[in-house]
Amino acid sequence: TTPPPDRKDSHLALALERGVEFPDGDPTGFGALRLDHDALPELDLDEVDTGTTLLGKRLAAPLVVGAMTGGTPRAGEMNRRLALAAARCGVGFALGSQRKMLADPSTRATYAVREAAPDLPLVFGNVGAVQLNYGVGLPELRRLVADVGADALNLHLNPLQEAIQPGGDTRFSSLVPKIRALAPDVGVPVLLKEVGSGISETTALKIRDLPVAGVETAGVGGTSWSWIESLRTADPVKRAVGERFTRWGIPTAESVATCRRVLPDRIVVASGGIRDGLEVAKAIALGADAAAVALPILRAAERSVEDAVAVVLRIVAELRTAMFLTGARTVADLRTRRLVPMRDLAAGPRGDAR
Ligand code: FNR
Repeated sequence: TTPPPDRKDSHLALALERGVEFPDGDPTGFGALRLDHDALPELDLDEVDTGTTLLGKRLAAPLVVGAMTGGTPRAGEMNRRLALAAARCGVGFALGSQRKMLADPSTRATYAVREAAPDLPLVFGNVGAVQLNYGVGLPELRRLVADVGADALNLHLNPLQEAIQPGGDTRFSSLVPKIRALAPDVGVPVLLKEVGSGISETTALKIRDLPVAGVETAGVGGTSWSWIESLRTADPVKRAVGERFTRWGIPTAESVATCRRVLPDRIVVASGGIRDGLEVAKAIALGADAAAVALPILRAAERSVEDAVAVVLRIVAELRTAMFLTGARTVADLRTRRLVPMRDLAAGPRGDAR
């Protein structure tokens, strides 16, 4: 019999080979909003500057290659390609869960992206917040950060995924006081990130009182972990539950707006189904500091570094165009631009609030 595939390899295979994203409709909520077009932008396209500073690091655009992988030879090769692409484009890079490094230090090389791409401007480390209930403490967090030269640490929040995952780590009690106690001493800024169900107002209010630098929304609309885990499980009940909760959570656009309102002074990274630069622009106008994109860049990186670079550069070009057409010379200008709800003109004049 063949051994069961490593969990990270099976996640990569399912994400790459199966449809695990919402195929239709407007699951992120960005489709219901438009940026106000300005036919007199009073600006030259060449003047548009997509550069920004995130966590004190200069990026060519407010963009991060989202947290995905590490821990196996295949995952290590994907990290190498993703990191080279991020470095070449001057954008941020987030590692996938480093949990495996704790159990098996020999996997460190599969996360060593600074060695593969020394020019990476910003690297996020990653581990599940729930691991604080499974033996991970401050020394482990500090080691994970130091071993890869991370500039910040994403603690991921994935209760839905763990609930469906075979043998998932589902003891989510008492994480708030643990995060409160540990975060100031990790040595780098800590962010809390969801993985595809979004951060709601209820969650953001809890995060407001924690000593963390910010959040990554990972709202509903992109890769669905409930879906991926339902494809992996052999348990018919878990599979049914996974399918039932595929669309559970807060759409990305709503999560970004909520996080910005509740957490006015923290970093908000928008993610979850962001697929183009126009959606990045809308996320920034809703208050995000930057956006993270995961699965589309992984798909491209599976082909080549060049393909991954092309996806990132296409997204940046779309963002630049949206900035030009809204008269936004800088990312700070874009943050002040208006988003207008799409009106249903078919509803006729009575559908118009004026
Ligand atoms: C992920 N994601 C993720 N997140 C995290 O915090 N730790 C992890 O280890 C992983 N692993 C992972 C593997 C793969 C193959 C994918 C596609 C994604 C979640 C990711 O960072 C992001 O939050 C969601 O995928 C939503 O973004 P996209 O994919 O819709 O752009």
